[in-house]
Amino acid sequence: MEQSTVKQSAAPILDVRDISVSFGGVKPVRGVSFSIEKNTFTSIIGPNGAGKTSLFNLISGANKIDSGEIYFKGDPIHSIHAYQVAQRGLVRTFQGAKVIRRLTVVENLMMAVQGNPGDNLWGFLNPSARKRFEISTREEAMLRLEQVGLSKFANDFAGILSGGQRKLLDLSRALMTSPSMVLLDEPFAGVNPTLVEKLLEVIADLRKNNEITFLLIEHDLETVMNISERVIVMAEGKIIADGLPNSIYDNELVIDAYLGSRRKGA
Ligand SMILES: Nc1ncnc2c1ncn2[C@@H]1O[C@H](COP(=O)(O)OP(=O)(O)OP(=O)(O)O)[C@@H](O)[C@H]1O
Ligand SMILES: [Mg+2]
Repeated sequence: MEQSTVKQSAAPILDVRDISVSFGGVKPVRGVSFSIEKNTFTSIIGPNGAGKTSLFNLISGANKIDSGEIYFKGDPIHSIHAYQVAQRGLVRTFQGAKVIRRLTVVENLMMAVQGNPGDNLWGFLNPSARKRFEISTREEAMLRLEQVGLSKFANDFAGILSGGQRKLLDLSRALMTSPSMVLLDEPFAGVNPTLVEKLLEVIADLRKNNEITFLLIEHDLETVMNISERVIVMAEGKIIADGLPNSIYDNELVIDAYLGSRRKGA
């Protein structure tokens, strides 16, 4: 694998060590290793079917690895459930932007928050605690909706939102738990340029104000080059290049696997 110089800290927030998974005869992720430094923005690019979403499924705990190890903030996360990974501060958005269509937009966000006092006996017996929790969660959700320009849809069913608006809602949902790391799976795909600008603004604000580490899967190279401090290139389940954004353009392996056809098309 070709690698240009990207600063690596002694204690990365995410450390992926030689992970693989197979489903029947398909092996979407084959011995992938990388680590991510805190408060950085890294993009993953690669052809369709390269294994990018599969990699996110493994990191987020949606699928279990066959071999290897994954550490988040120094702790192993490869054997725990997806909800436990999220509880530790590592959340993801979905390529298809999952929303619950029959809940309102604001309820979709409220659902994301764990620790509802109604979930345990103490809370069950304390309606006022439940009410306080609901009020504060609703307030937080409304702020999130404001941030992405969706507050006017707060009480509409999420099913009425357009594809692009669902992506904004999915991002807000991920942010409801105040994560320290967010995995974004093609958040800009199929979103109109105005909403892409909106999403980029939201991300830029988050980077300025909070300390969130981002890992983005994205096909649009202009966006990737503008936003990323580092680019990882996957093809056929493996990392074929990893480095500073500019270095990717000159990498022969990347040109063959990914950029070649795009350059010709340009
Ligand atoms: N649960 C599964 N069962 C069987 N095959 C799977 C499963 N998950 C992923 N795959 C296969 O793994 C390969 C990689 O798919 P993946 O969705 O990770 O690619 P991708 O890089 O995200 O592509 P795209 O850019 O099109 O989103 C594909 O051939 C896919 O069919
Ligand atoms: Mg994908």
